[in-house]
Amino acid sequence: MRILSGIQPSGTLHLGNYFGMMRPAIELQEKGEAFYFIANYHSMTTLFDAEERRKNTLVVALDFLACGLDPERTVFFRQSDVPEVTELSWLLSTVTPMGMLERATSYKDKIARGIAPMHGLFAYPVLMAADILIYDSNVVPVGRDQKQHLEMTRDIAIKFNEQYGQTFVIPEPQIREEVAVVPGLDGQKMSKSYGNTLEIFGEEKAVRKKIMGIVTDSRPPAEPKPDADKNTAIQLLKLVAPPAVAKDYEDRLRAGGLGYGDCKKALFEHYWNHFAEPRKKRAELERNLDYVRQVLRAGAAKARAKAQDVLQRAKQASGLE
Ligand code: TRP
Repeated sequence: MRILSGIQPSGTLHLGNYFGMMRPAIELQEKGEAFYFIANYHSMTTLFDAEERRKNTLVVALDFLACGLDPERTVFFRQSDVPEVTELSWLLSTVTPMGMLERATSYKDKIARGIAPMHGLFAYPVLMAADILIYDSNVVPVGRDQKQHLEMTRDIAIKFNEQYGQTFVIPEPQIREEVAVVPGLDGQKMSKSYGNTLEIFGEEKAVRKKIMGIVTDSRPPAEPKPDADKNTAIQLLKLVAPPAVAKDYEDRLRAGGLGYGDCKKALFEHYWNHFAEPRKKRAELERNLDYVRQVLRAGAAKARAKAQDVLQRAKQASGLE
């Protein structure tokens, strides 16, 4: 079973990324042959700074390797190191109806947020279809926001197969519905665009300050808080602390007598311990960037061999070869 997913290099990863995407992806390594890539071509539709793209790409690679992506087991690479996807993208674009792309909500959302409409943004789902189809992927784990893109990928594959004969494997989305929405420091969903994130590998003092600044109400410590489960610090504590510890804090908050400050202090301590090992690993990797680059190069070589195979099949089927 081939598992495939792409991650945009949009900068330092936070707890929302970790619990929503990275940890499930890392766990899935055991279930089949995983291909994970850093979607640097896709990032060109929203990020226009070359240095930042280079830096973010390396940061994502470091964060994933530090958190347990195993390069012996998983093929880990940069999208642009397999340029065959752009060629396949052209083939696919010729069976992609305009109306389908016009209905893409992610395109419409981005335009609404003020990104200038441009062809790359419009064609984004076609490149994504190429990413998926070029590795004969069976399962594509993604967040809910990518569901429509997956449906488009399937439609494009089906159209190509109808037009030119059986060529592509039809992939199954694996939508993560069950993962907890990780609350941000202000209680909204944690997201870079809300500016409410807690980085996985933040600097100690800065993180402590962020945690102590979590928004709380003005009820005094003595007052019982029947809604303790709604508290952001408690919700985050449940993610990083042993269940019994988190439950104890929640119970004491509910009963009254425990202040929010103590919950936040506990949150900091458990956050810091939770990522102690990955933090050590990351520091090691940072001193050894040549190794990280070597991992990506080796991953690309493996991915490319498969991509060339499937591209050849598509060219044969469509009369290019
Ligand atoms: N569009 C995805 C996102 O923004 C990233 C991505 C690009 C991807 N190509 C992919 C995800 C292929 C899964 C499969 O999250």
